[in-house]
Amino acid sequence: MSPIDRIISAADTALRALAGADHAARPLPAPAVPPGEALDEASRRLAGALMRVNHVGEVCAQALYSAQALATRNPALRQQFEKAAREETDHLAWTQARLDDLGSRPSLLNPLWYAGAFALGLVAGRLGDRVSLGFIVETERQVEQHLQGHLDRLPAADHASRAIVAQMKADEAQHADNAQAAGAVELPAPVKLAMRAAAKVMTTTAHYI
Ligand SMILES: [Fe+2]
Ligand SMILES: [Fe+2]
Repeated sequence: MSPIDRIISAADTALRALAGADHAARPLPAPAVPPGEALDEASRRLAGALMRVNHVGEVCAQALYSAQALATRNPALRQQFEKAAREETDHLAWTQARLDDLGSRPSLLNPLWYAGAFALGLVAGRLGDRVSLGFIVETERQVEQHLQGHLDRLPAADHASRAIVAQMKADEAQHADNAQAAGAVELPAPVKLAMRAAAKVMTTTAHYI
């Protein structure tokens, strides 16, 4: 693809992510237990809020990978980013579907989160492939920990959300491993801390808005 094609493709990715127009290539992860009684109101609201936070995370994943694929000049690395991005598209579609089922809605601030994550992805990409990969490793590891936290907090009876979060967590771990294997550098501790602080702002806000 020419540079112009790639910019158009990045714009298309953004519009799809924000319009909820993405389709998953893989089926929705099946719950470990067949659906039983409907969730009570408090559980449904909590699960809706947590899955909205996860949906925001996946909106940001689209933006990050899209920006980093745009920034790299290495075709093999671009392919690796695009492959991970396709799995992130599954995550986005799954969390969207679950939000719908829970009668919840995506974050109203998604355009803002997308723009911020895209800018960060471009900056990481500009700093060179190994830094860009280091940024992916750290992001994916933090997301993996965050998703483990949600497995602890999601209502025990919400097997449908749990199945989605568990599969996402496994995929994020794989994305981190792949980025590590591709030559990621370790980011400095203050950068990691700043990333955690930014993620905290995002997840706290997305719980409500
Ligand atoms: Fe993801
Ligand atoms: Fe990921």
